[in-house]
Formats: sequence, structure tokens, C-alpha cells
Amino acid sequence: MEKLHLINEKSVAEMLDREEAAFIRANPESRALYERAQHSLVRGAPMHWMDNWPSPYPIYFDKAKGARLKDVDGHEYVDFCLGDTGAMFGHGNEDVAEDIREQVGNGSTVMLPNEDAIWVAENLQQRFGLPYWQLATSATDANRFAIRLSRIMTGREKVLVFNGKYHGSLDETQVSLDKGRMIPQPRISQNAVDFERTTKIIEFNDVEELERALAPGDVACVLTEPIMTNVGMVPAKPGFHEALRDITRRTGTLLIMDETHTISTSPRGYTGTYGLEPDLFVLGKAIAGGIPAAVYGMTAEVAEVMRRYTQKDGYSISHCGFGGTLAGNVLTLRAIRATLEKVMTDENYEHMCSIAKEFVQGVAAVIQDYQIPWHVTRIGARVEYMFSKTAPATGGEAKTVRMPELEAAIHLFLLNRGVLLTPFHSMALMSPYTSVDDVNRHTEAFRECIEKLA
Ligand SMILES: Cc1ncc(COP(=O)(O)O)c(C=O)c1O
Repeated sequence: MEKLHLINEKSVAEMLDREEAAFIRANPESRALYERAQHSLVRGAPMHWMDNWPSPYPIYFDKAKGARLKDVDGHEYVDFCLGDTGAMFGHGNEDVAEDIREQVGNGSTVMLPNEDAIWVAENLQQRFGLPYWQLATSATDANRFAIRLSRIMTGREKVLVFNGKYHGSLDETQVSLDKGRMIPQPRISQNAVDFERTTKIIEFNDVEELERALAPGDVACVLTEPIMTNVGMVPAKPGFHEALRDITRRTGTLLIMDETHTISTSPRGYTGTYGLEPDLFVLGKAIAGGIPAAVYGMTAEVAEVMRRYTQKDGYSISHCGFGGTLAGNVLTLRAIRATLEKVMTDENYEHMCSIAKEFVQGVAAVIQDYQIPWHVTRIGARVEYMFSKTAPATGGEAKTVRMPELEAAIHLFLLNRGVLLTPFHSMALMSPYTSVDDVNRHTEAFRECIEKLA
């Protein structure tokens, strides 16, 4: 796919310089904390992703409520990043916070099941169609367990993923395609994983290649999002999901649908909305209103394998490795129940999706007015703008239209004007609290930015 833009490198570099200087002037408190943190935290943050913002250093957080976030220098932001989806239903959502406060006072982790767990599983059954459910502490972990179950069930080792994917920091998925060849992602070769043994990678939407890759019958599972969201957005072509399900069934390959991001589609996700039939289903990040948690669902056949694999051997216990001490704790379950019951409602999604449409209209108008060959796309409450005229068909195509400097310049320009986008690409999420005014603030800043660049 051709890189299409009417913006020259010089104006991007100048904008980056100007905005970096403005950022440094405006954020002395964050800077002081960043400098202090260098002596105790790797890269000045408790987790390196937090130092991936386009600014010279991250803003340090003070507090957040709804769709607004404040930093230690006293700036208030309209937050379209929303914790990179973890806070998709709004910061400090009172409906969830109230239940969390009550549960903390009555025990948070006890290594015992409770009624909330059953309520949650029954609710998930109805939404997503799979009969059996388990808990994990993150989507990465849930994907790990789904892969493990697939391997146990099929006796095969390989996982098939699509170029441009991200499913968490799972060793066997850290590959990409280079001219049709699988290569480790930069620096990942240092992990000493034998990808030839563990992994196959092909392009999304490529049915012929999928047929070829699964034909030898050596792939345990295909791990995918229903549409790709981590390399910009790559929609599924008509017929792709039908073909994917058909080929995986024919070759005895399990299908894992990772809806951690596409839960933006509706309260039933893409799977429930479009009637997909995965063998395993993963949902993390926002499911517990910001408390670390993930759920994974499975068919009765997969559940039977798990039941046998984890069964007690008389009175001796096997350490066979699903979940973890804090997975499915009662605090998390209360937070998930509150989120499902009071927040992931049709009413909230109606608002989130209609606000997202406003966001799309605002960006599309700027693109149109300045005649820049970009496009904006949406999956429910999630919006993405990309530097190509039309949506890419594959992750490979999506990678070719990325322009990191331009993206950084736009993000930093917006950040300096009180608008936060997720740092990893141009994605904006709408929460139940996001308002038309919030969207207008983005549209105005985006217009000003493009005016300066174009
Ligand atoms: C689709 C998808 N799955 C899984 C994950 C991993 O989530 P976590 O980092 O919360 O484990 C991510 C993270 O961005 C994701 O985008």
C-alpha cells in the first residue's frame, strides 16, 4: 500500500521541536518526578509501556474521573486513551467503585468460589454464547491459558497469528512477516524462542494462505482478534470469518477470539453481535472496570479437556498451571459483576457509539477540508485514523502506511492542548462519560494541527 500524505517531513520535524519545547515548559513537576524516578524505576516508570508517550517524558498522573484526567502540573485532559482500554468505561466509575469499596471491607482474595462467580459466568454465557468460563489476571494470561488448552486438546505445538497482531507479551506470538518470511520482532530474538517450532504467521484476510498454513494439521490454534486493532485498524473482509471458522474446523485447529479491544463493538462484543463461533474467547482490560482481570470462555469440549487435565488425583494436588493465586478473587469478581450489570449496558453503548460517530465526523471533515488522503474508521466506541486513503486489507499493508514521526507530532500537539490519544497509534476510545464537548475539543485541536502541518 502506497504512503499517501500531503505533509512534508520538515514541517513534522519543526512541529515536534516546537511541541517538545512547549511540553517541557508546561510540565516541570512531571519532569522532576521523571528525573527522581530514574534512580529507582527502569525508564522512570513501573512498567516500560508508560514511558512510550510522544513527549520527552510522561506526564505524571494525579487523578481521573469519567473521561477527564489530571496531571501533577495541574493540566486537565480529555482522555481518549482511557488506560489503553483498561478504563474504557470511565475512570472511577461510581457504579463499580461503590461495589469495590464494599467488597474490600469484606475480604478481597480467599481461594474460594462465591455466588458472584456463578452470576458472572452465567452473564458471560448469555453475551458471548460459550458455556464454560474461567478467570485470569490479564488478557495476556488468558491468551496463554487458551493456547495451553489448545495444545493439550490437539497434541500440536504451533500457534497461528496474523501479521501486525498484538495479544500481550506471549513469547510465541512475537513475530512478524518480512517479504513472506517469519522473523522475530525487533530485539525478540534475544528471548531465545524457537519460533519455527512454535509459530506460523500469515496475513489477515488471506484465506488461501490460511488454507495452506493449516493443511498440514500441525497448528493447535489460530489466535486472532475479529478485526485487527493493534496495527491501526484492519477490518475483516466479507466472508473472512466464515472461511476462518470453516478451515479451522476442517483441520482440527481451535479458534481463539481475543475481544480485549473489540468489546468496543457492543455489550456482546463482535462475537455476540456477528454470531461468531470460536472455541475459546478472551476478554481482559476493561472487564473489571479497571481492576486487573480477564475472562476466558470455552466450548463444552474444551471445558471437558480442562476438567480432566486439572482433576484431583485422589487427595494429591497437581500443579498444572492455569489461573494463579489472585485469578478469580472475590474483589475482581465483584468488580466484573458490577461492570457487566451496571456499565456494559445497551444504553451506555448507545451513547459511546453515537459519540464515536461524532468523533469520526469531526476527523473526516478535517481530512476532507485539507484534502489529505487519510481515512478514519470505527468499531463501535473505538475510532482510529490512519495515513492511507482506504482501510488496509492486511497488517502488512497497515504497517507500510505508519509514519511514526508524524503520529508523534500529532499526538504531542494534541497532548499540549489537553487531549490524550493512546500513545501506540491514533486510536480514540469513547466512554459512557465522553461528551460532544470532549469530541469537539479533539476536532478543534486536530484541525489546528493539520492546518499547521498541511
Ligand atoms: C487484543 C489484545 N489482547 C491482549 C492484550 C494484552 O492485554 P494485557 O496487557 O492487559 O494483558 C492486548 C493489549 O494491548 C490486546 O490489545
